[in-house]
Order: sequence, then C-alpha cells, then structure tokens
Amino acid sequence: NKFATILAGGGGTRFWPLSRQEVPKQLLNISGNDIMLNDTIERFKGIIPQENTVIVTNRTQAVLLESIMHSSVSKNNILIEPVARNTAASILFAAFSIEKTHGDSLMVVLPSDHHITDEEQFRLTLDEACTVAMERDKIVTIGITPIFPSTGYGYIAYDKDPISIHPVAIYDVAEFVEKPTFKKAQGYLASGNYLWNSGIFIWKTSVIIDNFKRYLPRLYKTMLPISDALGTDQEDAVINQIYPTLQSISIDYGILERSDEVVVLSGQFGWNDIGSWDALGAIFPPDESGNIIKANHIGIDTRNSIIYGNGRLITTIGVDGFIIADTEDALLICPKDNAQAVKDIVDILKEKG
Ligand code: GDD
Ligand code: MG
Repeated sequence: NKFATILAGGGGTRFWPLSRQEVPKQLLNISGNDIMLNDTIERFKGIIPQENTVIVTNRTQAVLLESIMHSSVSKNNILIEPVARNTAASILFAAFSIEKTHGDSLMVVLPSDHHITDEEQFRLTLDEACTVAMERDKIVTIGITPIFPSTGYGYIAYDKDPISIHPVAIYDVAEFVEKPTFKKAQGYLASGNYLWNSGIFIWKTSVIIDNFKRYLPRLYKTMLPISDALGTDQEDAVINQIYPTLQSISIDYGILERSDEVVVLSGQFGWNDIGSWDALGAIFPPDESGNIIKANHIGIDTRNSIIYGNGRLITTIGVDGFIIADTEDALLICPKDNAQAVKDIVDILKEKG
C-alpha cells in the first residue's frame, strides 16, 4: 500500500496580491499549466496510484479545493483541519487516517508549493526512496544541492560514505538543522557537507507514528482520540474539539531535528520552492533583458523585473530589478531584493482586518 499525503494548508502570503486567504498559493495556476496542487499529483504518476492521494487542508480552503482539484482524488481523502496547527499535526492526522483504513502503509509526504523541471528523474528518485523506506525502518528525506545560503530551508548534514549509490546515492544523516541563521547557512554551504531539505518525506506509517511517540509525545497523546474517532459518527466533533488545543510545530523542528533514524537521497531533478515572486525565474526563463513578463506590458529601458498582470496594460520606464504584480483590486510594487517582505504587507492587512 502506497499513499501520497499532500500538505496544502499553507497560505503562501509572499505571493500576495495573487494569493489570498481563500485562494492560497497551492490553488493558483502560476506556471500556466495547472494549479500547483494538481501539478504535484500529476508528478508522481506511475509511482504512487493517484487515487491513493490524501490531501490535508484547512476549512477556509476546502470548498474551493474540492471544486478544482485533480479528478482522481476522492472527497473522502481530503482531511480538513478546523484550524492550522503546522505540519507535524497535519502529518500525524494523515498517518492515523491511512493506518486506520489500510494498516501499516508506505506514506510519501509532499508539499504543494514546488516546481520540478526534470520529472523523469524525480520519479526515479521517488521510486528508489520508496524502496529504501520499505526495506528499512527509516525516515527517508530527499536532499537538494544548495546553491545559496538560504535561511528559509532545512539543512541536512550527510555522512561522507554513502550507504549505497545505485540508482541514486543514499547517505546516513548526521545532523538536520531547520532554517539556520544566515551565518550558519554560509558555513554549511561552504563545507560542501550539507543538502537542502526538499520537504519531501518517505516512511512507513508505523515508523513515523513511532517517531511521534518518542519525540512529540504530548502531540501524539493529544491526537490519539482523533485516531480512535476516525470513521465513527464522533469524528468531526472530536477533531473540532481537539485540533485548536494542539501544539503548533513543524515536522522539521519536531521530528527531523531530533530523530537519529534519518537517511537522505540526493535529488538531482531541478527542484525549486516557489516561495515568493522572485522565484518565478525557476518556472519562466527571463527574456534577453532579464525580465519575466506575464502581463499586457509595454516597457522602455526595463530590466531584470518580474511583471505579472491580469489584462490591464502595464507600462514601465527605467525600471530595474522590480516586482510588479497587478490584480483587480490590489497592486504590488517592490524591489526584487525585498520579495520576502511581501508577507509583512499581509500581516499589516490582517491587523487592519
Ligand atoms: N494542511 C496543512 N496544515 N498544511 C500546511 C500547514 C498546516 O498547518 N502548514 C504548512 N502547510 C503546508 C504548506 O502548504 C506547504 O505545502 C508545506 O506544508 C510546507 O510548509 P511551508 O510553510 O511551505 O514550509 P517551508 O517552506 O517554510 O519549510 C519546509 O519546506 C522547505 C522546502 O520547501 C521545511 O520542510 C524546510 O526544511 C524545507 O527546506
Ligand atoms: Mg514552502
């Protein structure tokens, strides 16, 4: 039994004004292909049966999600969180649900905000990761060769000697550090000993549940009644009662940093976290002036900019290194270097109500 669990409860606030609370990033069609969530499901075709897709999302997004999601996903496989309590809770919720209905199973956790260029290589790596997770009682991660000292990712230090190298290299993990300081990230990058955590995890449900017992015992105990109630007429009531009380912690801080049962496969498939506007370059190659233009646009002396519109004519003169994102009711203008601060605008908007 192989199941995919897609985490789709994040807000994607750094894509404001395109992303909103009700229409988060993973439900946007940024690539021009399909919404990011459906791209995620399409990508593991042939490795995990698409009908074995479990989506964990939250109540505000569920209605829209049901209307636009991939046709192979059954409504029963959408787990709805009444409130967001971060990824550890989402993952245990899904693990309980899969184990309840199908017994101990292989579980592949996938974020819904990634772009991958070499899908064939991705499938090969994922297939191998599934084999490793099936054969060993390990937490299997997929690492990406880092290219800049990002403070937004987890870093995985791996042992120099691989456990095996065919068809992809697998290493024991010496250390996992979630979102380090810039200084530390610089050191990790220079050492050549670290990989970025792709956020894709592969394990047996029994293995991850056991890790919750050991490293997040309070969360595990508090969530146990949810497992008992699944499939009964008490299910909704128990979930609604317990969820708001849960500890809010990510799987990375909660388990990956603490467990010594972690291995890593090196992934070479053109991975990008489409986290903010400046990441669009990973999907669309810039034109000869360094611009990425997805708008009705006329420019004079316009360079290195990202211009995203919704039909209305946008004109720019003497603009270098800017993000301009226009929607029907809101416009963003921001230097590319400040792309991460877009979430601060969303915070201000939230405060204002
Ligand atoms: N259902 C649900 N509920 N999903 C959630 C929640 C939640 O409360 N919080 C986040 N998610 C979803 C997001 O939508 C995304 O698909 C995924 O879980 C990861 O959450 P992010 O908030 O995007 O995490 P991150 O990007 O800061 O960090 C993680 O991913 C990096 C790679 O992209 C970590 O795993 C890092 O270590 C990793 O490098
Ligand atoms: Mg992310």
